[in-house]
Amino acid sequence: MTPAGSAIVDDGVHDAAQIANAPLLPETNLKGRRPPARQRRPSTVLPAIAWTVLLLALAGLAVYRQGHGDGQAAALGDQVASAGRVVEVAASRGVVQGVSEKSTAPALLGGGAYDWTNAMLAWQRTAFHFQPQKNWMNDPNGPLYYKGWYHLFYQWNPDGAVWGNITWGHAVSRDLVHWLHLPPAMVPDHWYDINGVWSGSATQLPDGRIVMLYTGSTEDAVQVQLLAEPADPSDPLLRRWAKSESNPVLVPPPGIGLTDFRDPTTAWLNPTDRAWRITIGSKNQEHAGLALVYRTEDFLHYDLLPALLHVVQGTGMWECVDFYPVSADLAADVGLDTSTAPGPGVKHVLKASLDDDRHDYYGIGTYDAGTDRWTPDDAAIDVGIGLRYDYGKFYASKSFYDPVGRRRVLWGWIGESDSERADVLKGWASLQSIPRTVLLDTKTGSNLLQWPVVEVENLRMRGKLFDGLDMPPGSVVPLDVGRATQLDVEAVFQVQAGAPAAGSAAAGAEAPYNCSASAGSAGRGLLGPFGLLVLADDGLSEQTAVYFYLVRGADGKLSTHFCQDAFRSSKANDLVKAVYGSSVPVLDGEDLSVRILVDHSIVESFAQGGRTCITSRVYPTKAIYDSARVFLFNNATNLNVTAKSIKIWELNSAYIRPYPYSD
Ligand SMILES: *[C@@H]1O[C@H](CO)[C@@H](O)[C@H](O)[C@H]1NC(C)=O
Ligand SMILES: *[C@@H]1O[C@H](CO)[C@@H](O)[C@H](O)[C@H]1NC(C)=O
Ligand SMILES: *[C@@H]1O[C@H](CO)[C@@H](O)[C@H](O)[C@H]1NC(C)=O
Ligand SMILES: *[C@@H]1O[C@H](CO)[C@@H](O)[C@H](O)[C@H]1NC(C)=O
Repeated sequence: MTPAGSAIVDDGVHDAAQIANAPLLPETNLKGRRPPARQRRPSTVLPAIAWTVLLLALAGLAVYRQGHGDGQAAALGDQVASAGRVVEVAASRGVVQGVSEKSTAPALLGGGAYDWTNAMLAWQRTAFHFQPQKNWMNDPNGPLYYKGWYHLFYQWNPDGAVWGNITWGHAVSRDLVHWLHLPPAMVPDHWYDINGVWSGSATQLPDGRIVMLYTGSTEDAVQVQLLAEPADPSDPLLRRWAKSESNPVLVPPPGIGLTDFRDPTTAWLNPTDRAWRITIGSKNQEHAGLALVYRTEDFLHYDLLPALLHVVQGTGMWECVDFYPVSADLAADVGLDTSTAPGPGVKHVLKASLDDDRHDYYGIGTYDAGTDRWTPDDAAIDVGIGLRYDYGKFYASKSFYDPVGRRRVLWGWIGESDSERADVLKGWASLQSIPRTVLLDTKTGSNLLQWPVVEVENLRMRGKLFDGLDMPPGSVVPLDVGRATQLDVEAVFQVQAGAPAAGSAAAGAEAPYNCSASAGSAGRGLLGPFGLLVLADDGLSEQTAVYFYLVRGADGKLSTHFCQDAFRSSKANDLVKAVYGSSVPVLDGEDLSVRILVDHSIVESFAQGGRTCITSRVYPTKAIYDSARVFLFNNATNLNVTAKSIKIWELNSAYIRPYPYSD
């Protein structure tokens, strides 16, 4: 391995001393990196295979130990009698303390506890998604780039695998893939954050200073906004943080509930007065979700502006608001700094995490710097009633601008859909999504494109290519790829779904399709479902289906749905198993394409270049270790599908371990 300091194409701000001190990390070369999402680049093999194999073994052992040894008081919820059976319902967490529900699978009815073995639980730990070494994690916080390092902070419980005692976990990376864990950055130690150091965002000022704004839950459980800054700005690892003497810098304004005021955004410079703005999510008494705007020059004193950034009736509390510009320029494959002024070629994205249904919704629109208001391009798909970042398990996300990669990168909290009992047994709960680049889809103009950061491709090892496979109605085609628990799949399908036979246009029209209300891959229609089965065993007793489903409307036009079906993902029944999905735009002449990242208990999929994304958590009992397989399937009754190109790489494990202190 080579020192990582030489591996990053930098903007020139980091200094030689910090390179000399850099610990060993696998090398990722960003030189010649392609613009995200729109072209391919041959992958390179990492020189870290031996290390990661060793680490994986150790991680597996550690999980075994936790599962066995520490006899953690299983914080099980009430035992509830239901239909003559005893089932476990996790105790509700979060809501009583003033945030959204933070228990896993809150309503697991109808199933007894599955007898999970330690080998099964150990397998569930992921290999290239970010996880702390143990315990509960939720929202990503304050991501930023500083002096050669990417920083990720996150909501973390130092005391167990359920939500509580929230502190800011902290890890650093050279490439957003390999991570070194640092000690917690901030813990609840003042009256104003003693009930939790909750979510917040970083802003880098033009002079290089970092300011961190976050929410504290006070000793009286009031939500206040707090300021912290690096205690030693010369430390590229930003290990010590100083909470401001002026805290709290913001308290709930009149008319806003004491527990409806949280998660300040990254600040942006308003070009009309060159002062900073931040926005904070809330709701009003009529249950409209809204975003307040504050003006500040020094991050200590703030003025609440008279206008709201935006408000949408009926959407309830907005958590973790995110607000950022995207380029509408057809040629620009780059992200924009948060302070990029509005104008021609710039659109603004407003995202809210809806406490009511715990999904992340976004809208694309225009920011008026004169009034500090945002207007959606299409009110029918306004924030909270239209598009989602991800139609599966994905919440409380946050983006940041990466000045090195000139891209906007998005992180999202991926919760569990197993029981809290199983989380306590395995000693951890939750992942972060693969970091995703975010661009405006300039072809449709009406949605974003999300795509795994290009560095993920450096994990690609053995690849296999399958070309021109026929998938007639009812077929299942095994793909021989060897081990299939850490995969990167790129699949392109062609269908011959021309006009229906003469005179049968009306007969060909079908009812509208809804992934979530469907029977998944077992619900056979004329033109779907078809796609892939991942984390399947040889006999298909377990499978997770990632599929397209086409529907011909009364007007003869096709609409395309993209879904992920976990109904048969596991023999265990103490799990939430669902079909997730939505429609996906397919333009004239486009093939159907999907990229799938399989990483043990997570399946994260991106259709049509990232127009529609779905993340599922799955917990197979048989399709694990060497028994996991991949298949193509076509369960349409009247459609021939051709798998034009299927590329499958085994992915190496990322290198995620404690920072190797020498002092
Ligand atoms: C929070 O910390 C206290 C003190 O260490 C501990 O007793 C309690 O179990 C923790 N709560 C959770 C939910 O982990
Ligand atoms: C799809 O079905 C689900 C579950 O029945 C329902 O909650 C959702 O509103 C439906 N979506 C649409 C777009 O009708
Ligand atoms: C196709 O549908 C049939 C009938 O519902 C079902 O038994 C079968 O499992 C489905 N195939 C796949 C691959 O899901
Ligand atoms: C599928 O292809 C087969 C073989 O070419 C053909 O006989 C059949 O009619 C096709 N089915 C459909 C629905 O197009």
